Amino acid sequence: MSDLPFAQADFARALLGWYQQQGRDLPWRNTRDPYRIWVSEIMLQQTTVATVLGRYDVFVQQFPTLTDLAAASVEQVIDAWAGLGYYSRARNLHAAACLIQTQFDGIFPADPDLLQQLPGIGRSTAGAIVAIAFDLPAPILDANVRRVLCRLFAVLLPPRSAAAEKNLWAWAERLTPQQQVHDHTQAMMDLGAMICLPTKPQCESCPVNSLCLAYNQGLQQDIPLKTAKRSIPTRYQAVMLVQQQGRLQVRRRPVAGFLGGLWEFPTVDLEQVTDADVIVRRLLSQMGLVGDPVLVGTSYHMYSHFKLESLVYLVDLTDNSLIAETQNQWKTRAELELLALHGAHKKVFEQARTGGI
Ligand code: ADE
Repeated sequence: MSDLPFAQADFARALLGWYQQQGRDLPWRNTRDPYRIWVSEIMLQQTTVATVLGRYDVFVQQFPTLTDLAAASVEQVIDAWAGLGYYSRARNLHAAACLIQTQFDGIFPADPDLLQQLPGIGRSTAGAIVAIAFDLPAPILDANVRRVLCRLFAVLLPPRSAAAEKNLWAWAERLTPQQQVHDHTQAMMDLGAMICLPTKPQCESCPVNSLCLAYNQGLQQDIPLKTAKRSIPTRYQAVMLVQQQGRLQVRRRPVAGFLGGLWEFPTVDLEQVTDADVIVRRLLSQMGLVGDPVLVGTSYHMYSHFKLESLVYLVDLTDNSLIAETQNQWKTRAELELLALHGAHKKVFEQARTGGI
């Protein structure tokens, strides 16, 4: 079932020829340092190339080596991750750096099985690091490559389905050459990102269109198959934009736990939306602040397992003489732009700033 319907060498030749002409020149492609390649792969797991381009150089300047990253505090790494989202990656990156220091004497393992034991590194990321940094044959199967393979082999199953999984990995493995793995792997990524696009595949420009079963059968628009949507619950919270003298209050969440180590505006979970006013006033007085909370709007955010509906309150402190002393910190709007706020509150901040709420 997972045998290739064409010669691997024909595929590799066409793909590499195209990559040499059209492949992207990206900053993490100018190094073979496994540490830097690992950082780039973790950044690119859930963030677009365009966003990573603005953050990668700054991050590796702040933490130029594995030793520097391991020596930093997890809070420093989280703060340096600002703008990239999905902050569990920053916590895992720091934890993995410490483990490589202690368990592998600071030497980056070149073995996908060992790499997969580290936090934040799954099978595909392990394959990408081994292939790109060490030029050793190891398959990858990230979202782009999944789509490429679903089309190449006309898979009429959702690309993330258990039924498709085994064959996709087997094909990824058989397509991986023994040599030039560094280029092959990045060529597969570029094919997915530049040609084999989700809704508008550029089949006429594709270097492997003559080998593609979906293209040959006119199925490229029907593949990959859509996954059925799950219904997920809604949770509610009240968010307080407490302001005084042009600054807003924020607090850091505990490092252990959901959204650990990230910054947020003072927030309280709500059982029912109707209780919000009373609960917000109670929280304000617990924080030792005097002000009149005004509901200014609602902000929505999707997590993988629930929807979050946030009632946003603006609180102008009535005692304007001094910045109030609380355990929370005061930040200017310019400071907030650069802060590792979690996604839902980044959105609240943006909406409040632009008048969206
Ligand atoms: N996505 C994941 N890894 C990548 C890489 N090395 N280059 C471009 N896009 C990627």
